[in-house]
Amino acid sequence: MKVQKVGIVGGSGYGGSELLRRLLVHPYAEVVWVTAHSQEGKRVDEVHPNLRGFTDLVFQPSSFSEAWKEVDVIFLGLPHSQSMNLVPDIPIRVKIIDLAGDYRLKDPDVFAEYYGEHTSFLLQSEFVYGLTELNREAVQLSSRVACPGCFATASILGLAPLVQADVIEGRVIVDAKTGSSGSGIKPSAGTHHPSRANSFYAYKMFNHRHQPEIVQALQELNPSWDGRLTFQTHSAPMVRGIFASIYLSTKEVMTEEQVGDLFREFYEGHPFVRLVGGSPNTNWVKQSNFADIGWAVDGQDVTVFATIDNLVKGASGQAIQNFNVMCGYPEGTGLMVPGTHP
Ligand SMILES: NC(=O)c1ccc[n+]([C@@H]2O[C@H](COP(=O)([O-])OP(=O)(O)OC[C@H]3O[C@@H](n4cnc5c(N)ncnc54)[C@H](OP(=O)(O)O)[C@@H]3O)[C@@H](O)[C@H]2O)c1
Repeated sequence: MKVQKVGIVGGSGYGGSELLRRLLVHPYAEVVWVTAHSQEGKRVDEVHPNLRGFTDLVFQPSSFSEAWKEVDVIFLGLPHSQSMNLVPDIPIRVKIIDLAGDYRLKDPDVFAEYYGEHTSFLLQSEFVYGLTELNREAVQLSSRVACPGCFATASILGLAPLVQADVIEGRVIVDAKTGSSGSGIKPSAGTHHPSRANSFYAYKMFNHRHQPEIVQALQELNPSWDGRLTFQTHSAPMVRGIFASIYLSTKEVMTEEQVGDLFREFYEGHPFVRLVGGSPNTNWVKQSNFADIGWAVDGQDVTVFATIDNLVKGASGQAIQNFNVMCGYPEGTGLMVPGTHP
C-alpha cells in the first residue's frame, strides 16, 4: 500500500507528541516535517525525549508553508483559532486532519458564541466531524476532518446508542473529569502541578466549548432528541484520562440487558469501543485508543460510564484512526495496542 508523506503542524505539544509517537512507527506514514512555535529549531527528540532513536527531525518554524507541496496529509495540532488561518492556504489535494475546534461546529453563531471570530468559516462545510464511530463513511470520502474534542468524544460515545434508539426522557447530565494533559503543554495557574496534583474541582460552568459539539453530533444522529444537556467538567488529579458519568432517565422502564443490547448493536464492528460490565477505569484505556463504556440501570434511571485517554482516543489516536479510514488502511493500523495495567 502507498505510504503517505505526512506533515505535522504544532508537533511540540502533547497532541503532537502522541501523533509523532505513533506516526513514526506507522507502516503507511512517513513524517516528512514537523513544526513548532517556541520550540522551533530544536531536535524533536530534545523536546520529546521518549522519541530518542526514532527520528532525526528538527522542528521547523510554524510559517513553514512552502512545505505544503511535499506532503499528502497534514495533521494540525495547534491551539484553537490557529488552524483557521492556515487551512485556506493548504491545497485541496492535501488531506487535513485538525485536532482543534476551528471546524467542528456548523452554526457560525454558535461558533462565535463559544470561540469568537472565525477567519475562514466558509470552509467549515468541507470538514467532516471526525468521530469515526459515527461518521466512518463520511470520513472515508472526505479529505478534511475536524477531530472531536476529548470530552465530546467520551460523552457522545456514551450517549449515541441511547439517543439513536430514542429512549431518553428529559434532561441528560454529563458529569465529566479530565487529567491535566487535557490543557496542553503550556502551564497556567489552573493547570500547574501544585494546584492540580492533590485536588479536585469543577470548571467552566455552563459554558464549556464541547457542549454545543455534543448536542450537534447527537442531534444529527437523531434530530428528534431535544438536546437538553447539562455538561459539567472537573479537574481530576491524574495526567491522562477522561471519565464521564452520564445520568439520564428513559421513557420506559428498561433492564440492564436491554440497555446493553442497544450498546452492543450500535458498536458492532467498531474495534475501538469496548463494552465493559459496570464501571470502566481510566487506567485500562491509558495510552490506548480504546473507549471503554459501562452502564448501570435502575428502573427508568440509567447511568453510563465512558472513559478514554484524552491524548489518544480523545485526540491523536482518533486523528490517526481517521487517517487510516481516509487513506484506505485498516482502521486499527498503528493503534491496536492495549492500554497498560496498572
Ligand atoms: N490535550 C488534549 O487532551 C487534547 C484533546 C483533544 C483535542 N486537543 C486539541 O488539540 C490541539 C493541540 O492540543 P495540545 O494539547 O497538543 O496543545 P499544546 O500542548 O499546547 O501544543 C500546541 C502546539 O501548537 C504550537 N503553537 C502554540 N501557539 C502557536 C502559535 N501561535 N502559532 C503556531 N504554533 C503554535 C505549540 O508550539 P510550541 O510548543 O513550540 O510553542 C505546540 O506545538 C488544541 O487545539 C487542543 O484543544 C487537545
